[in-house]
Order: sequence, then C-alpha cells, then structure tokens
Amino acid sequence: IPRSVLLSSGKTIPLLGYGTAEYPFGASSETMKDSILHAIKLGYRHFDSAALYQSEQPLGEAISDALQLGLVKSRDELFITSKLWCCDSHHDSVLPALRKTLKNLSLDYLDLYLIHFPVSLKSDEYELPVKKKDLVPFDVKSVWEGMEECLKLGLTKSIGVSNFSCKKLETLLATAKIPPAVNQVEMNPLWQQKKLRDFCEQKGIHISAYSPLGATGTLWGTNLVLDCKVLKEIAEAKGKTTAQVCLTWAYEQGVSVLVKSFNKERMKENFSIFDLELSEDDLQKINELPQRKGFPALEFISDDGPYKTTEELWDEEI
Ligand code: A2P
Repeated sequence: IPRSVLLSSGKTIPLLGYGTAEYPFGASSETMKDSILHAIKLGYRHFDSAALYQSEQPLGEAISDALQLGLVKSRDELFITSKLWCCDSHHDSVLPALRKTLKNLSLDYLDLYLIHFPVSLKSDEYELPVKKKDLVPFDVKSVWEGMEECLKLGLTKSIGVSNFSCKKLETLLATAKIPPAVNQVEMNPLWQQKKLRDFCEQKGIHISAYSPLGATGTLWGTNLVLDCKVLKEIAEAKGKTTAQVCLTWAYEQGVSVLVKSFNKERMKENFSIFDLELSEDDLQKINELPQRKGFPALEFISDDGPYKTTEELWDEEI
C-alpha cells in the first residue's frame, strides 16, 4: 500500500494524517504546538486543522520551528488542511476566511481547503455549541464558487468538503466547475461508510477519515470503538493495539486517516502501522460489526432551521 495517493486536483495526499481538534478549542495552544512539532519529528507530514479548532496558530508556529530546525527542508514537504467554518459559509466570506486562516498559519497557501459542514450560520462566532437561531439555509452553489476562486488564486492547491452525504455531493457536482477533491467524514470500523465510499470512488472523490478511533475522550466521541471486543481480539492476536488495528483498517481501504493524540507514546504508536496487515478473516469480522454513527451533529438540527431532522442533514446516511 502506498503512503500517499493522487487527488483529482493532481496533488498528492499522504494517507496518514495528524488531527488537531481538541476541545475546548484554543485552550492548549502550547501543548498543541509541542505535539505537532513532535509529530513532525516522528514523520507525520499531513496535518488537519480548521478555523473552528483554533489550532491554526500553533500549527503555523510548529511548521515554522520545524523549518528552522531543519526537520523539513521546505514547506512543500508538508500537507496542510484547514476548513471554512459555517459562519463564513457565504459567497463573499470564503476568500476573506481563507486569507485569515493563512495569516493564522503564517503560510501563503494551503494544500487543502474544506467546507467544514453543509451548514451556514449568520454569526461571526467560531464556537461550539452554535446558536440554533443563527442557522440559515446553506447555498452550496455560491459557497463553492468562493472555494473555486480560492483555488484559482493559488491560495489552496485543492478544495473539498466535509460531512457531505452522497446526495449533497450530487447537488454539488451538478453545479461545480471544479469538482471537490476530498470529502472528509467520520469513518471507523463501527461507521464504515460503505455506500459513501463506493459513491466517492465512482466520482473520483478521495475520502479522509476523521474519528478513526471513535474520538474517545472527546465531546463528540465515545469509547465504543476502542472497547470493541472483536477489534481487541484481532489486535491481541497480532501483538498490536486496538488503535493500530483501526488505523490500519482505514488505511487499507485507501482513505486518508486523521488521528489525534497529544500523548507522545500514542503518537508513536499511531505512526507505527506500516508493518501491520489485516487478513481476509480479520476483514470479514470487521465487515460484520454492527454500524452506529458516533457523531450526528445534533446542534445543526432545529425545528425552525434549514435541517429539521438528522435525516435531512445526513440524508439516508444515518
Ligand atoms: P490523547 O490525545 O490523550 O492520546 P480520534 O482520532 O478518533 O478522534 O480519537 C482521538 C482520541 O483518542 C483522543 O482523545 C486521543 O487522546 C485518543 N487516542 C489517540 N491515539 C490513541 C491510542 N493509540 N490509544 C488510545 N487512545 C488514543
């Protein structure tokens, strides 16, 4: 299995990526910077950030330190993603939002810029939970035009989306001049996204997997994945950890995997998966696991908002 794959934009994405979402956002800037710098030392080259996470600044500082220390020779050895928050999901706000993101990162381009959710907010708050009264209809056509402009200006090398269902991707593909290169979604052995992955493969859209470990210990996750008996047994038989089995499973599906840890041991553990291989039998067992979406994003659902039910937000994929 290659360590990186080609996107429809012609750019290459490393399959193992390092996530930076830690809640409460912005509370651990120093730890975050140190962790990211350590991640670069360990060999991680793909970093996932977002305007919402308040991780852009520490990520930018870590990149600058890494360059100064010679851990990487040039900026283009790194793959840096950030995301447009819902309050900026309006035609004329996309470009200024990306410029702000680049300023936070002290970079002159991103590798990948994503629409964080198919949601728009009439507010200027980068915060969770969002105020339901601020939810307004999301106009994918006009927001995507903003994304295309960012790409044309060279401020990002690829553009994509996050948390889009097959149906929402269809709508986007019907109007997009430049197709999304990536859809970043929740994916782990308990939420395998088979249908979405098949659809995206057909359309040439690369999948990035967030919460590959089920986001244990976070506001939006649970321990269900890491406590799964079947996964534990597979791991034990191989002398590996359950986390390594989860990451390998996703990686073997050809998706990029975004894993977050601020713990040095676990960061190393998560990067040591390239010698692990799952057997047909392991895959079969994983395929049979009961499916359950971990993160329904209920805060975007409101009786008098654009999405009244989780089905409307995620379409049939819930
Ligand atoms: P920590 O930062 O203390 O390591 P996900 O990648 O699915 O979002 O999960 C992230 C969560 O899983 C974080 O809370 C992280 O905590 C924890 N985590 C990361 N790597 C491992 C691992 N190898 N084993 C157990 N927990 C892990």
